[in-house]
Amino acid sequence: MSIKIAIMSMKGGQGKTALSVNLTDRVSKANRNVLLIDSDMQANVSTIFQRDHVCNLANLILGEMKEFEFLEINKRFSILPSGGKKMVEAARYIGNSRFRETVLKNLLEPLKHSIIIFDCAPSWNEVNENILMYVDYVIIPVVTDYLGYSGCDQVITYIEDLKKDARGLCRAEILGIAVTRFNNRTNISKTILQGLHTHWPDLVFKSLIEESVSIQEAPAYHNSIFGYKNGKTRGAQMYEKLCKEILMRIAKKWKAQTA
Ligand SMILES: Nc1ncnc2c1ncn2[C@@H]1O[C@H](COP(=O)(O)OP(=O)(O)OP(=O)(O)O)[C@@H](O)[C@H]1O
Ligand SMILES: [Mg+2]
Repeated sequence: MSIKIAIMSMKGGQGKTALSVNLTDRVSKANRNVLLIDSDMQANVSTIFQRDHVCNLANLILGEMKEFEFLEINKRFSILPSGGKKMVEAARYIGNSRFRETVLKNLLEPLKHSIIIFDCAPSWNEVNENILMYVDYVIIPVVTDYLGYSGCDQVITYIEDLKKDARGLCRAEILGIAVTRFNNRTNISKTILQGLHTHWPDLVFKSLIEESVSIQEAPAYHNSIFGYKNGKTRGAQMYEKLCKEILMRIAKKWKAQTA
């Protein structure tokens, strides 16, 4: 059985793509088969790895591709590109479908990867709703500024409302809030961090990702933070801690669920 995780926030620039790519690579290094699905029309995963393919999420949703074909970044790390602006058409297609809530769930049923991670678009549309019907967990990345904080509040409310309205179809649980860009030199960053802890004490991951040049540079070198400079950067150290904490939290929940 696959463990499915959405990296989601409706606000742009919160570190969704950075966290998705780095978490996927970290899981692959733990010898697990992991699939990263890009569901954002910005197609940043394709931009980072400079790989694209006609077998992409949009074409699969639209029925223009019938078989799954993934791009291999390494033996255990595969990607399914989004299809760029064709995702707009795909969202419309989902919206017009008879069983619109479960289009993606039915489509992705055959996947067998140990872990499937979604790099979501910064929006609230049919695609993100469908992803929430399919995944087990959601991780919300947040930049510690005022709008980041308010975006975090918004996405949590949206998910809770969707779960209430979805007649039991949505089982997605918020696994945690990941601080992806903390600046310990500013008071606003510290105040927002405090606010996150006060408001969602059980959700915020303790491992912080601070502002770091290496995290900004890695995509320009077409790599995750673990591949960039052989993983010998402060960014890699911080992401290593965060990914471990995420994986431990998943393991704990998975154990409790299957006990
Ligand atoms: N800790 C960090 N330090 C410095 N730069 C960072 C850090 N985390 C992310 N960035 C940079 O911030 C920008 C936004 O990050 P990213 O693309 O991951 O966000 P996103 O939430 O996926 O954005 P979008 O909503 O547009 O998809 C990128 O240029 C990324 O390299
Ligand atoms: Mg992104």
